[in-house]
Amino acid sequence: MLSTLEKENHIAVITVNRPDKLNALNSETIESLNAQLREVKDDKDIRAVIITGSGTKAFVAGADIAELANLDVNGGRELAQRGQDLLFSFVEQMPKPVIAAVNGFALGGGLELAMSCHVRIASPNARLGLPEVSLGLIPGYGGTQRLAQLVGKGKAMEIITTAGMMSAEEALKWGLVNHIYDQETLLEEAKKLAGKMIVQSPTAIRHALEAVRAGYEHPQSEGLKKEIAHFGQCFGSEDFKEGTSAFLAKRKPAFKGN
Ligand code: COA
Repeated sequence: MLSTLEKENHIAVITVNRPDKLNALNSETIESLNAQLREVKDDKDIRAVIITGSGTKAFVAGADIAELANLDVNGGRELAQRGQDLLFSFVEQMPKPVIAAVNGFALGGGLELAMSCHVRIASPNARLGLPEVSLGLIPGYGGTQRLAQLVGKGKAMEIITTAGMMSAEEALKWGLVNHIYDQETLLEEAKKLAGKMIVQSPTAIRHALEAVRAGYEHPQSEGLKKEIAHFGQCFGSEDFKEGTSAFLAKRKPAFKGN
């Protein structure tokens, strides 16, 4: 199973489960997550959702670079649109609170998944960032929009253009995560947080989530459309070919800017 679903005490825990690839999101994993999210969305007994990664090293280390390396401009655009529809916007639009328990690397699509969730907590070993420009790409799963919402435009510009990785402490300082807990207790703490949500009115929570989201909706939907278009354009560049082949060959890229 590329992702697993457990339900207990009105809380669903969804775990991305490709530990040998640091839980990188390929299409099949995104489909598996979408099926489980649809199930918990419709399950009246479930009142809060936790998303985490399997193993002790990664939450999600990004989109699967091996899968996207061979795509062209249209393929890149379709990948971003489909991913946003099936997973990232879907999570953000869930009518129940979704907590990301970031248990390690949350890079690229991994940070984008965490940022689609309503609340984020992390373990001390977490490393968070959007390294797409190091691959000749830009974030394509909502990162250009949601990072600026969470940390402000100036810090988002720095993170995106330097492909930098933040420590959990730094992420806490910038409001990218709300709390840090030891890795051994992270899931328990996520459940405790969810426990405070499941005793509230599910109807009121649904309305609250919708109201908060509505404040960002218009600029975000315009921004996401642009993000998908620019993400797609990157797939036509030599830099993209260099960046992805360098990653897969485990060498440093040498970009020419075309
Ligand atoms: N896509 C596909 N495979 C990935 C991946 C990704 N995003 N991230 C990690 N993997 C794979 C590696 O290729 C490796 O596979 P292999 O054992 O078959 O060679 C395995 O996961 C373990 O990763 P590795 O790089 O050996 O671990 P590390 O501890 O040396 O480095 C990271 C960890 C997270 C720094 C590094 O894996 C990395 O930079 N990943 C890509 C991050 C990224 O750019 N994400 C954005 C994608 S758009």
